[in-house]
Amino acid sequence: MIANIKQVSMYENLWREQGKKLPWFKPFTRVLDWQEPVAAWFGDGEINASYACVDVHALGERKNKIAFYWEDEKGNSLSWTYLKLYQEVNRISDVLKRFGVKQGDVVVIYMPMVLEAIATMLAVVRLGATHTVVFSGFSSQALKDRIDDTKARVVVTADMGLRRGKVIKLKDIVDAAIVDSPTVQTVLVLERTQGSCTMKAGRDHFFHDVVSREDVYVAPLPVVSTNPLFVLYTSGTTGQPKGIVHGTGGYLTYARSALTWTFGLNDESIYWCTADLGWITGHSCVVYGPLQLGVSQIIYEGSPDFPHPGRWWELIEKYKVTAFYTSPTVLRMFMRFGIEWVQRHNLSSLQVLGSVGEVINPQVWKWYHEVIGQGRCPIVDTWWQTETGCFMIAPTLDREEMSLKPGSATFPLPGIEPEIVDVHGKPVPFGTKGFLVIKTPWPGMSLGVFGDSERFKQVYWSKFPGWYYTGDYAMRDKEGYFWLLGRADEVLNIAGHRIGTAEVESVVVAIDEIAEAAAIGVFDELKGEALVIFAIPRQGLQPGEELKIKVVQSVREHIGAFVTPRGVYFVEKLPKTRSGKIMRRLLKAVVEGNQVGDVSTLEDEASMDEVRSSFNELKAAIL
Ligand code: WTA
Repeated sequence: MIANIKQVSMYENLWREQGKKLPWFKPFTRVLDWQEPVAAWFGDGEINASYACVDVHALGERKNKIAFYWEDEKGNSLSWTYLKLYQEVNRISDVLKRFGVKQGDVVVIYMPMVLEAIATMLAVVRLGATHTVVFSGFSSQALKDRIDDTKARVVVTADMGLRRGKVIKLKDIVDAAIVDSPTVQTVLVLERTQGSCTMKAGRDHFFHDVVSREDVYVAPLPVVSTNPLFVLYTSGTTGQPKGIVHGTGGYLTYARSALTWTFGLNDESIYWCTADLGWITGHSCVVYGPLQLGVSQIIYEGSPDFPHPGRWWELIEKYKVTAFYTSPTVLRMFMRFGIEWVQRHNLSSLQVLGSVGEVINPQVWKWYHEVIGQGRCPIVDTWWQTETGCFMIAPTLDREEMSLKPGSATFPLPGIEPEIVDVHGKPVPFGTKGFLVIKTPWPGMSLGVFGDSERFKQVYWSKFPGWYYTGDYAMRDKEGYFWLLGRADEVLNIAGHRIGTAEVESVVVAIDEIAEAAAIGVFDELKGEALVIFAIPRQGLQPGEELKIKVVQSVREHIGAFVTPRGVYFVEKLPKTRSGKIMRRLLKAVVEGNQVGDVSTLEDEASMDEVRSSFNELKAAIL
């Protein structure tokens, strides 16, 4: 602990200088108050995120600069200047205020990728309130869980979203999520197609009925730096997703710093981060980081391959995008379509390319570098998490492209001290695989788990006392480069999205006919990992195709269609350790057709014979 405090003070100057770049209403005098595991960054300063992202530009030189170019799959497009963004934020803020939203409230946002969604986020925080954006691919059950956990009184949605030419009726999903909600009093609905949804009188209101047509001004409320800016739910190792809370001043400072140091965003940048607003990348790398820096951005509503696989390259050419940020899972999809889709377009505006969400394997890295970046653009592979607020390990501007290694996220950002440790928390030598921890607090770190401070402590700060545990495996090569190796805990990464095995399993065992279940991720060429479920039916029950479909549907219904299982297998027994822990690794080996390998690396408690016989039985049950 003492060592920690020393190290923190080493970085105090760095963070003080970075923090000072923000427009504080009341300047901070203290950089960090650290009471493990809770950090108060710039604790006595007062600020407002909406002001820092919008007003500073709209009331200044960037007034007429484009903040967002928006397009959809059909080619509809529009653009918002910073002034227009400011006007919309104020108008929505005014409505929220009239419906009683104030500091301390959590507003749930369930919207498609439209500019009003961004304006709503900023409108909420303008009032000092906190938002929870729920990815619009989540099911009504997942939405309900998040509404209930945050006790939201106001939900903001749209009548529908568009994806791959298909209409997704978002308002209907909201209706299902709040049928018996004890808290929701108001639903604000952005109407995109007339008459396409039902409205409950007194509760539901269309934007066009309540949003003022005139310009209005809502003064941004100065809040203390640690005021919760947003809660974002993410999967962990239990069935219940965690609401990760981020504060204001520290988070904003970190997002701003990280985007500057890596992508080098500046006034000339035309930047496109393809992440949905429902994920942390949408929060930090579309809203709070880039907007502080006043850049122009692209927002696309739709999927990458629709109406054709060249759609994104078309947009890069059209808007002369300079910085592009996407995920390996999308890149793998593009690789499959072939380079002719890329070559039809002039991508010479690109200067830097980013990757996030999962390991980018060297082959994909090279394709990205050569085909998209035409050998000219550095690849910024950013390792980070919902909990870390922004990038932690990623190449920074001062690293020459030549020194990048395909597949390595390279080195930590300034002020970040990662370490790789063994199971006892002892740092391992270069070349040895271990658990990735962060040794000192940083301004982007989460304030905690919403409504559950014990869980925050237990999940992140107790495995290796004094250090933040990331849940990832990593290794440093002999030159000190970091190589991320995937999750060390029971969390899957499907197409760059985190899903806990326990989350899936608890949905499956809730089905009457199922006694026990194990969810695993198996190699998938496109998604990185695909979900496979093993389930033990209740005694005496003969499982058939119907039950399989029921399992698949239940997962889609309770979590969302984006985690649809690739396979469901019924077995009589699951391989476990003596202590009763399911050995998912064995199941994975069976599905992937790999050898179980060296069983001595398996759980200590497991007897080798037990493992082998479970394995053989299982294999027999499947084949
Ligand atoms: C994984 C996404 C390798 C990792 C920003 C982490 C990565 C989890 C990378 C967090 C990367 C993210 N290389 N793995 N560049 N970026 N991950 O919370 O396992 O959705 O713990 O945040 O994604 O996922 P989350």
